[in-house]
Amino acid sequence: MNSANTEQVTRFRLSDQYQQLKSSFHRHLIQQIEERNLEIDQWDEAKLERFVTEQMRRYVVEQRLPVNLRESEALARDACDELMGFGPIQALIEDDTINDIVVNGPSNVFVERDGKLTIAPVRFLDDNHVIRVIQRILAPIGRRVDESTPMVDARLPDGSRVNAIIPPIALDGPCLSIRKFRKKALTSEDLIRSGSVSEAALNYLQDRVRQRTNLIVVGGTGSGKTTFLNLLSQWIPQGERIVTVEDAAELRLQHGHVVRLETRPPNLDGERAVTARDLVRNALRMRPDRIIVGEVRGDEVLDMLQAMNTGHDGSMTTIHANSTRDAIHRMELLAGFAGYNGSEVTFRGQVASAIHLLVHVARLADGKRRLTSITEVLGLSGNELQMRTVFHYDMEAGVHVDSRDKP
Ligand SMILES: Nc1ncnc2c1ncn2[C@@H]1O[C@H](COP(=O)(O)OP(=O)(O)OP(=O)(O)O)[C@@H](O)[C@H]1O
Ligand SMILES: [Mg+2]
Repeated sequence: MNSANTEQVTRFRLSDQYQQLKSSFHRHLIQQIEERNLEIDQWDEAKLERFVTEQMRRYVVEQRLPVNLRESEALARDACDELMGFGPIQALIEDDTINDIVVNGPSNVFVERDGKLTIAPVRFLDDNHVIRVIQRILAPIGRRVDESTPMVDARLPDGSRVNAIIPPIALDGPCLSIRKFRKKALTSEDLIRSGSVSEAALNYLQDRVRQRTNLIVVGGTGSGKTTFLNLLSQWIPQGERIVTVEDAAELRLQHGHVVRLETRPPNLDGERAVTARDLVRNALRMRPDRIIVGEVRGDEVLDMLQAMNTGHDGSMTTIHANSTRDAIHRMELLAGFAGYNGSEVTFRGQVASAIHLLVHVARLADGKRRLTSITEVLGLSGNELQMRTVFHYDMEAGVHVDSRDKP
């Protein structure tokens, strides 16, 4: 199909007319399936496609629909996705070049490719249509959204992460966010090739991981923290025992001796939750050499620091913050919420002895994810943490800089 045609079909697919056609054809299909007692669940994709295409052909003729061949093909394709897959976003899910899909109500669907968010040429009929697709995504894992549970955070069998939030909590219609699981994890070579990090910095990090440095990966939302933690963990020598604690198991450790623990949300009565703090405490009793916490975002900050201070050197985690200084402040804030009642200086002293290295990653304006700095914690001087930058990314020059040996 040439680009003019593609554009025309895209415009058509976004029109109200198309949405109405699609929904009346869908109703027609359901009616056919029910009347003829067809067991489409048992069919393979090819058989379903043949059936839908044939029905489409007849429907166009019977109803004298003003559509051309390409448009009717688009309708048939979408009708199949509606019957078997996840409706309008099925094609986006199958597209391996897309890593994130976000739906903000029925008419705003965005995708992220190569770090850039763009609007996707699909839409849902209405709020209920979005909710139906959300339910269909959640059903196989035994979850659902409704008024009593308007927010769901879940992980699909393929490892993808899903968040759904619906009205009345979401004011402009049901929202769905999918972070797809990359089939092949990003390797050191991938990151060097794409300019995310320099080889020198990776070699340095590799040494530090082997030397059992306690480290924290710092970055904003979707900046690549988990990806980096995964990468770092591959250098943990075999033979060490690792316990991981995550809210949704995303880490893929290529390691012979890993125990993976995952938190559990509270049930409908608000009970039986298993928190990250519970799991870090439990992990400490499991004779780990290292503990890896997917992300520190609550009370567990205290237990994690304690673990790092009590012989579990080489432990790692990530924290949501926009700079290394911010990360320290955020840990202080979380510690305060967790009921830490020592002084600020005492807490900083704990941080200074627990954390040896902060690795900052960011998604820059060009959409690229980069390692922007590696900072060593030298200790506490008076009230302030002393830190030293060992690597950084020079934004203006667009180069990775090795700052070791420089005054
Ligand atoms: N260096 C990189 N190059 C290309 N893509 C990357 C890079 N780092 C991460 N990504 C992609 O960016 C997306 C976000 O990465 P990741 O999940 O690691 O971020 P995060 O900071 O942990 O996000 P969150 O804040 O949601 O936990 C993923 O789809 C991942 O595959
Ligand atoms: Mg993450």
